[in-house]
Formats: sequence, C-alpha cells, structure tokens
Amino acid sequence: MSAEEFRLLRDHVYAHCGILIREDMKFVMERRLWPRLEALGLPNFAAYHRFLRYDTRRNAELDSAVEALTTHETYFFREPVQLKAFTEEVLPLLQQRNAGTRRLRIWSAGCSTGEEAYTIAMLLKESRLFEGWEVEIYGTDISRRVLTTARKAEYGPSSLRATPPEMLSRYFISLGASKVRVRDDIRAWVSFGHLNLLDAESCLLVPRADVVFCRNVMIYFDVPARQRVLQVFSDKLVPGGYLMLGHSENLLNLGAAFELVHLRGDLVYRKPELSWKVER
Ligand SMILES: C[S@@+](CC[C@H](N)C(=O)[O-])C[C@H]1O[C@@H](n2cnc3c(N)ncnc32)[C@H](O)[C@@H]1O
Repeated sequence: MSAEEFRLLRDHVYAHCGILIREDMKFVMERRLWPRLEALGLPNFAAYHRFLRYDTRRNAELDSAVEALTTHETYFFREPVQLKAFTEEVLPLLQQRNAGTRRLRIWSAGCSTGEEAYTIAMLLKESRLFEGWEVEIYGTDISRRVLTTARKAEYGPSSLRATPPEMLSRYFISLGASKVRVRDDIRAWVSFGHLNLLDAESCLLVPRADVVFCRNVMIYFDVPARQRVLQVFSDKLVPGGYLMLGHSENLLNLGAAFELVHLRGDLVYRKPELSWKVER
C-alpha cells in the first residue's frame, strides 16, 4: 500500500465513521483489508479505493471495510467499579426522578455483541428498583455482524470471563458445551439497532434516554468526531441524564457541555439540569 493509497483509504473510513487510523497503523490496515481485495478480485488498494467510491456495491463494501478495521472487544460486567457506582448511586436517583412515569430508558451506544446492554439489564433486575416499570435498553452499533450475535444472546467463556458466579446462575441458561443464553426476561428489556454515531440523521431516530453508556468507542475517534458524537448524546439525554464513558476516557479539552459528578465510588458525567444551546 503506497502512502497515497493509505491516505485515501484512511480519509474515506474517517469521513464515514469517525475512526482515525494512525500513520503507524498502515500495516495493520493493509493486513486487515487485504482479504477484501482478494474477495473482490481487485489488484491493488488504489482499485479498492475506487471501488469504495464509485461501485454500486460501495455501501455494503464500506460496511465490510469498517468491520475489518474496528475492534469489537467486550464482555459482561466490564469495568466493575463503574458498574457498582452506577448500581448503588445512580440507579436509586433515577428511581426517584422517574417515579412519576415509572419509565427508564438507557442507550448502550457502540454495544458490540450486546454484553454491555444485557449487563445493564441484569443490574437493573438485581436492584429490584424497577419492578413493574417500562424499561427499555437500546443497544446500537455500526457493525451489523455484531448485532446479529447480540440479538441471538448466546455467549461463550470469553464473554463471561468477568461474570460473578451468582449472576451466571441467575440470569443465564446453560446450553451445554460451555455456551449460555441470556434469560428471556432480561432479553425482553433490550433491543438492538444499526446506527452510525457519526450519521446525525440516523441518530434522530434514537429516543431520549436517562443514561447513555458509550464505553470504549470514542477512543478510536479524533477530537472533531468526539465533539460531534457528544453533541448527539447531549441532545438525546434528558436534563440531568448521565453519560458513562470507559475508564480511560474523559471529556478534557472537548468543550463538552457535561458536568463531572463525583460519586462515592467513581466519577461520571451528567447533562446539566438547565442547558442552553446557542443557535448560530
Ligand atoms: C471496543 S467495542 C466496545 C463495546 C462496549 N461498549 C464495551 O465497552 O465493552 C467498540 C464498538 O464501537 C463500535 N463503533 C465504532 N465506531 C462506531 C460508530 N461510528 N458508530 C457506532 N458504533 C461504532 C464498533 O463497531 C465496536 O463494536
């Protein structure tokens, strides 16, 4: 792959989904996309770039390219310190706030194969704070392949590596051969949809949420892409709603309109109760 081919492909992927491929990732990109060239019978990366721009099958191929270039690593009960603070400190507040409507909406943005969305549902069930409520957890991702797995709700040891044994016996059904399926009452609270966080139009369809989880997704974005996505989250959260990022992520230098909340067990972000959007 020449420097020019790398630049063209990198810019194309970035414009589509916000994922920035660093200069030193050229060989990784080459290795991951090469099978696509072979599958399409294309002689080089310049031809592949032309295919992505002009071929009638370009949209499907862009999905495959993003698929090959993104990391979908995830597992149940990831980042337990944050989940503990969420359960013990945020959920009781949400129960009080929404007592009038008895409705709770949570968005797992960049949910990958679904473990995060189901983990949230299990924590809600475990808390017993929302019995008889209308609970909706939306999991969304740019990759259609991971969403198929999420909907199937069947998992193996790698997904379960941090799952406490009591949660395993309570919320999963054994399928034998070290496979399990998430119990139906947990699945009933969760739905999945395809969504590119950088596509403002498709984000319009997402309903307002009390909490957004977007963990380990924006680490692959540069500053302008992060800012765009944070604006979407700000629009979609109710005033006072919470934004949960991954533990290595923060909003420093992003000029985002979120306030940092010091819980006893963790730091989280919140959309201010009163927020103004300056119209230009
Ligand atoms: C590392 S996984 C994180 C999964 C989960 N949130 C967690 O923390 O365990 C990142 C996910 O973000 C998704 N993603 C990357 N760019 C995206 C975009 N522009 N819109 C929606 N999802 C995106 C990827 O497809 C991938 O499944």
